[in-house]
Amino acid sequence: MEDQSPKHGKLWLWLDQRIGLKDIEYLAKKKEVPVHLHTFWYYFGGMTLFLFMTQVTTGILLLLYYRPSAGEAYESIQFLMTEVQFGWLVRSIHAWSANLMIFVMFIHLFSALLGKAYRAPRELTWLSGGALLCLTLAFGFTGYLLPWNELAFFATRVGTEIPGVVPVIGSFMRRLLRGGDDVTGATLTRFYGIHVAVLPAIVMIVLGLHLFLVQKHGMSSPPGEEQEGKRKRAMPFFPNFFLRDLVGWLCALGVLAALAAYFPAELGKKADPFQPAPIGIKPEWYFMAMFQTLKLLPSHFLGIEGELLGVLGFGLVGLLLIFLPFIDRRSDAGQTSLFPAAFGITLIAYMVALTYLGYTMSPTK
Ligand code: HEM
Repeated sequence: MEDQSPKHGKLWLWLDQRIGLKDIEYLAKKKEVPVHLHTFWYYFGGMTLFLFMTQVTTGILLLLYYRPSAGEAYESIQFLMTEVQFGWLVRSIHAWSANLMIFVMFIHLFSALLGKAYRAPRELTWLSGGALLCLTLAFGFTGYLLPWNELAFFATRVGTEIPGVVPVIGSFMRRLLRGGDDVTGATLTRFYGIHVAVLPAIVMIVLGLHLFLVQKHGMSSPPGEEQEGKRKRAMPFFPNFFLRDLVGWLCALGVLAALAAYFPAELGKKADPFQPAPIGIKPEWYFMAMFQTLKLLPSHFLGIEGELLGVLGFGLVGLLLIFLPFIDRRSDAGQTSLFPAAFGITLIAYMVALTYLGYTMSPTK
């Protein structure tokens, strides 16, 4: 039957008959967000989403001027920074928003971990989140090389060297990443294609699944808040929580605008593959803990190459993190399980400590 309620205008009714706005309205109204001591952490997923949308928008604007070749990439960015109106601002927002997005995503990940939001029926929400983590880090890694400056060039040379230590498939993987034996214009073209076409396409699909699952299952409450007898409070997602989400986005925008305006992205010197690597080459901060671990490992340990040991260790931690919903069965059964909190807190402490060492230890060590 046609909805004749006076609260909807003619346009709404016209669209409803064609695309079923009522169903969407029902979905939006049905969702409720639990209100408790830890509700605050729910804002970080939305903030990650906002920063991702900022990346897509500024990335498209950058594409209007960027040229993906070793001969022109650096110059095209230089032109954008000096000649194009607000080009420096768009580039700075893209660079800062990438960093903020990864930072906020880590907060989102660890809050989901410590609140045990991965328990049934949210295992697939967690797995799709794990895929988004890998994809976002891949965005950071491929984007870093695109300005073709000295720092990015040598950091990429070091970064793409690492998979080479894996037995059997290592050298194949290194060549696949680089598009040859060394980092060259072919690597740049490859990274560009991955950064602007492959990753966005995959992220759209995985993110769509992630958000669909969040919508389907609603937000979880941490185990402490689910105890019998505790009064359960909730607020409608739309418009109550959504408007609060917007305040979170506005805060993120404020931080982003201040960082981009006061600390514009730098360009440095153009990459010269024939020059020796400058001392103290550093990756982006989110790879620093891994980079520093590899630096501190001895060259051989129990007859195994130190770097290989490091790479195997990273793989193991990654697998533990991603498959946590299937490892922590006790929490699913409603029993106390200390492993997730111990694992999460150790991981945060390790990442912070090694990142700190990475920035403070002498580069020759
Ligand atoms: C591009 C990156 C990501 C985006 C845009 C994103 C977005 C979101 C949004 C909007 C929500 C609902 C609000 C909230 O819980 O904060 C959510 C929930 C969730 N996300 Fe993510 N997320 C991302 C990455 C991740 C990662 C890396 C993980 C963990 C491996 C993860 C795991 C979860 C889980 C388990 C929930 C459900 C939380 C609950 O029910 O309490 N997400 N995500």
